[in-house]
Amino acid sequence: MSITIVGTGYVGLVTGTCLADLGNSVICVDTNTHKIGKLKNGEVPFFEPGLKELIQKNISTGRLSFSSDIKESFNDSIIIFIAVGTPPLDNGEADLSSVYSVADEVIKLIKENKNNVRKILVTKSTVPVGTGKVLIEKRNKTKITEDQLSIASNPEFLREGSAIHDFFHPDRIVLGSENKWALDTLAAIYKPLYRTQSPILKTNLETSELSKYASNAFLATKISFINEISNICELTGADVEDVSKIMGMDARIGKFFLHPGPGYGGSCFPKDTHALIQLSKNLGYDLKIVKAVESVNKEQKVKVIKILLDYYKGNLSGKTFSILGLSFKPNTDDIRESSSIEIIRNLLQNGAKIKVFDPEVKHLDEFNNNKNFSIEKDTYAAAKNSDGIIVATEWNTFRELNLEKIKSLIKTPLFVDLRNLYHPEKLKEAGFEAYVIGRKLLKTS
Ligand code: UGA
Repeated sequence: MSITIVGTGYVGLVTGTCLADLGNSVICVDTNTHKIGKLKNGEVPFFEPGLKELIQKNISTGRLSFSSDIKESFNDSIIIFIAVGTPPLDNGEADLSSVYSVADEVIKLIKENKNNVRKILVTKSTVPVGTGKVLIEKRNKTKITEDQLSIASNPEFLREGSAIHDFFHPDRIVLGSENKWALDTLAAIYKPLYRTQSPILKTNLETSELSKYASNAFLATKISFINEISNICELTGADVEDVSKIMGMDARIGKFFLHPGPGYGGSCFPKDTHALIQLSKNLGYDLKIVKAVESVNKEQKVKVIKILLDYYKGNLSGKTFSILGLSFKPNTDDIRESSSIEIIRNLLQNGAKIKVFDPEVKHLDEFNNNKNFSIEKDTYAAAKNSDGIIVATEWNTFRELNLEKIKSLIKTPLFVDLRNLYHPEKLKEAGFEAYVIGRKLLKTS
């Protein structure tokens, strides 16, 4: 099948590459010519395990190519995926201007060229409920028929850091459309995955669009819920690791997404929960649960500041802290809405100095010129003369730290584990005063 993907961000690039790997002929289009130039040479603009290799493999087979001009592939393409960004506007609603401009361009090209093959325009970007309907209205305003251009929705459920695996082993594939032929044609490209037991759900546009927001909002709810339970654990002496395990053994609850931490980040949960709240507000509905989820997350992100202020009796000025992990989760270099960044901002405002190490993030524009901020070459350089280690992201390399070495380098033996990588007893034995999220506090001063 001939496919065009518009937008070579994380969603578009992963989807396009994996669809090429399934045997389709895919062209990924982006207006950013610099980016397209790099992609043509097999260079990937962000870190995603396995993606570079898969791009290079599919370029060499001739199934995957790149262009800055949608016209290059337009005539032959049956499916056109819109995978452009939908960043939040100031009021929290998703900015759909890029989605609409792709749709306008597609409609214009169909009008100009009479010999097009029958096409499907599919939103892959996360778009608010009703977007598909707007695209139908745009098409209907012209003389173009549903048979020439059908509108569909196919949300993606990939996680950064394990996107390739997620694409080939999805829990479900959701397809929404006004048109049966469009649903069947889209289902055909996912058939190889269906054979390996991934169910394909065909539904209407609104259901497909809402299912994406509902899924992300529910996952965010699980995280805020366990973060609140972990706060209760700290007040009672219960152990959140065990509470999570026990809860997860109930199949109705499920064992995933019950790890407490410094709040959820990334390009999806914060944006999507907020957009769902806004959408509900516009519909005259007060979405109470998701509002609470968002508010718990906000507090959780900076909870560590209070812990440090308590420890240092209200004064962090002149103290040096080592932050381990900048990305919002491991196996990515994405720092969007990362709790680490929020923590650093707060600590700098409190007069502290920051030394950080992350296995992938080597540059942070925001703090570039701040003399109290530095990015170090490894954990131990970050720990030197520090007044406290803060584990903010659960990269594997932070799971097996040489605690003895850190103890010998650090000025004040304070270890703050926001990801539950260490048992408090282990840290105590190594000579640290420790705070481990959702577990008994061993801090004495
Ligand atoms: C999320 C969803 O998991 C994907 O299904 C979805 O496709 C994607 O958003 C999207 O909408 O594009 P992602 O943002 O890549 O994927 O990352 P997650 O693995 O979901 O983690 C999000 C945040 O939640 C991270 O900050 C992570 O540290 C935090 N988290 C996750 C927890 O604090 N505890 C957990 O138990 C799980």
